[in-house]
Order: sequence, then structure tokens, then C-alpha cells
Amino acid sequence: MNAHEPLSLPDLESWWMPFTANRQFKDAPMLLERAEGMYYVTHDGRWILDGIAGLWCCNAGHCHPHIVAAIRDQCGRLDYATAFNMGHRGAFDLASRLTGLAPPGLDYAFFVNSGSEAVDTALKIALAWHRARGDSTRTRFIGRERGYHGVGIGGISVGGMAGNRRAFAGALLPNVDHLPHTHDIERNAFSRGQPAHGLERAEALEALVTLHGAENIAAVIVEPVAGGGGVLPPPVGYLERLRELCDRHGILLIFDEVITAFGRTGHALAAETFGVRPDLVTLAKGLTAGAVPMGAVLVDRRIYQDCMAGVSRGIEFNHGYTWSGHPLAAAAALAALDVYEREDLFARARELAPVLEEKVHALRGLPHVTDIRNFGLLAAIELAPRANEPGARAMDVFRHCFAAGCLVRPAGENIVLTPPLVINAAQLEELADTIGRALVEVA
Ligand SMILES: Cc1ncc(COP(=O)(O)O)c(C=O)c1O
Repeated sequence: MNAHEPLSLPDLESWWMPFTANRQFKDAPMLLERAEGMYYVTHDGRWILDGIAGLWCCNAGHCHPHIVAAIRDQCGRLDYATAFNMGHRGAFDLASRLTGLAPPGLDYAFFVNSGSEAVDTALKIALAWHRARGDSTRTRFIGRERGYHGVGIGGISVGGMAGNRRAFAGALLPNVDHLPHTHDIERNAFSRGQPAHGLERAEALEALVTLHGAENIAAVIVEPVAGGGGVLPPPVGYLERLRELCDRHGILLIFDEVITAFGRTGHALAAETFGVRPDLVTLAKGLTAGAVPMGAVLVDRRIYQDCMAGVSRGIEFNHGYTWSGHPLAAAAALAALDVYEREDLFARARELAPVLEEKVHALRGLPHVTDIRNFGLLAAIELAPRANEPGARAMDVFRHCFAAGCLVRPAGENIVLTPPLVINAAQLEELADTIGRALVEVA
């Protein structure tokens, strides 16, 4: 890719930007014009090493020629096909391939357009399943503090990000409880991989069952590794314990794998990495390597079959989106799966994970650093907050890194790294070194 002349800025006023301090951004805009492989190019012609796979999604790197060609070709052949009482081969092929990647038993896929839609869909499938089996009192959901499950009303209700919930507190779903988060900085600071302490926090589920009665609880939803909440790998034994408790009490276990799937933890799904099989899995992001919006819910065979049997004729599940299984998205996803397989990117993530671990833990001892966590190709460097300015220090580090040519992500008091799986060791070092310099420079 050739460097190009700086481009003039567009009129910035009318776009109300998501999850952005709009006024600050518009005062000092950062525009991305092009991308290739591990790099973005900004409107002013600067190359930026992408340390966060766009937004935890471009796992194959940017503008991969195979994915680009597949989308172009699909767009010229079949631009749109409704999925309501019709279909097209791409979505069927994708469902077969996706379920083939999942642990046995997760044999069905429901397509949506984002992680948020995947979460709301999974919650609705859980309700529909219990109802189909005559368990219609099972309507209560259990999420977790610091969980991020997107921005639908269902997702923020089960989610545990206080800032995302507060403004909507009066309109959240009733009948939702939260398990405690698993961040235990006193006992686990600077753990490498899964922290040793915290298994007992899963026992809160037993207490909720005692409080409400298992017959009223539909599902537990957690991210196998909490991402948006600051990269919190599960304590050793924690996910296994949740699985045991859900089985004991007839509660469905939903893994929100919107960020952990497609190689992020070294396998197709984190469920495989941890050896714990959920009943429903939400997917998005890496499903199309970020190229076209798409999400999915993987569904256990018995859930699908009970839902089919629960309705005598006609539509079995009154749910779906105009763009469910969109042909362009299906083509992009099939091509992304080709790339993951041909380039053996999940194995590459497993090989690079120890390199990322070394590089980020080498930042221990630098100013402001209170904790460092990593799992697979996910890492977070936690910083001491500035008095009365939550998140400001991490935001400053993000800006310093961007000015120095690296894209990292501020998440609360954390600097997060989730690079494309095509990154190499030298680029991981460049990201860590750039963060290290920024930590020394910021107040
Ligand atoms: C675990 C998890 N679930 C759901 C979502 C929401 O996905 P989307 O932004 O595509 O709606 C995200 C987004 O980061 C996520 O990390």
C-alpha cells in the first residue's frame, strides 16, 4: 500500500458517534482511510499498527484478498435474499461449517447481525426452550458484574458494566441477577493466564438458586474471558463449576463468545480451549473477520429439537431479522473460515500467546501499572486511576500510542491488546514498547 497525500476532513458535525466522546473527537479527529494486513492508514497519511484487530474482530488482518474477493463476487451474484420462508445456499453452507467447528452437540446456528443481537437472541431461545418443555416459570436470567453483552435491552440487563446500565436503570429487564465478577487484584495481580484464586465466586450461583428456586431460572450468561470489562480470564476451575451447577439445576449455560471465538484463545471457540461445553454460544466479530456485520447463536441439538416439537405446526420461533444470514455476510464468513483454516491461524494464536504474555508482563514496574493480565491473544495492562478522573489516564495512553503509530484500546482503567492473529513477534514487541514509552510520558 502506498502512502498517500493527506486528505481533507469531511464535515464532522452530523454523525452522532457511538461510544465516543463526540465533542472531544470532533476537536481532534482521528480518521482511518485505508487498511491492509496489520496496518491502518489515517487521513493524514500515517500508518498505524493495529493492536486490537479493529475492535476485537479483524482476526485475519485487514482487507484479506480472499475475503475481499468473496464479498465482491457475492455482491455481483446475489445481493440480498430474505431468510423468512426462503433461503440461499451461502447461509446453509455457513451453518454447516460453523457447527462443524463447534464442540459436538452444538449442531444448529441462528444468524443475526451483531453481538448485541446474538445475545438477545440467545436469551429468547432460552425462554422459548423452557416454555416448549412446559417450564414456563423459568424466566430469570443471571449475568455477571463487569460482563459486557452488547447494548440491547437484554444485553445491558444481563451485562454488568455500570456505566452502560445507569442511564437506563428504570427500563432494564426485571428478574435479572448478577454473579460477582472474578477480578481479585489482591490475590491474583500479575497472574499469567488463568488466575489461581476465585473459583469460589461461582458458588454465588448456588445462593441465587436457593433464593429464587431453580424452577424460576432460565439461563446463566457469561463471557468465558470477560473482555470489555478489562480482560478477566476465568479463575482455574470456575467455568467447570458453573457448568456443574447449571446441570444440577436445569439452567442453560450461555457462553458469550463474541470476542473469544475464532482463534482469540487458540481454538475456534473458548469452549474448546477450556473444555467446557455451553448450551448456547453467541458469536459475531471474527465470524466475518470484521468485514461485514454478522452474528450467530450456536444452539444445542436438544434445544432445537424441543423447540421444533413444542409447536404443532407453523413457525416454531417467532424471531429473526431482515438481514439474518445476509448473502454478503455469509460469503465473508465462509471466506474468513477458509483463511483461518488455510493459514492455520488458531495454531498461530497458540504459538504467539506466550510471546504476548512475555511482552506485556515486561511492563510490570512501569509507572501507574497495578496489574497485567493475559490469555491467548488477549491482554490488559491495568493502571491506577487519576483522582476524580476515571479512565483519563488510560485514554491518554491510548492517544500517546496512536500518535506513536500504534492502536491500542482504553477500557476503563485498562489498556487492552487483542491483535489480529496474523501479527508477528516483532509487531507484538512494538506494541508493548510503545505502551511502555506512553506509560512513562503520561501524568
Ligand atoms: C462479549 C461481547 N458480547 C456482545 C458484544 C456486542 O457486540 P456488537 O457490538 O456487535 O453488538 C460485544 C462487543 O464488544 C462483546 O464483547
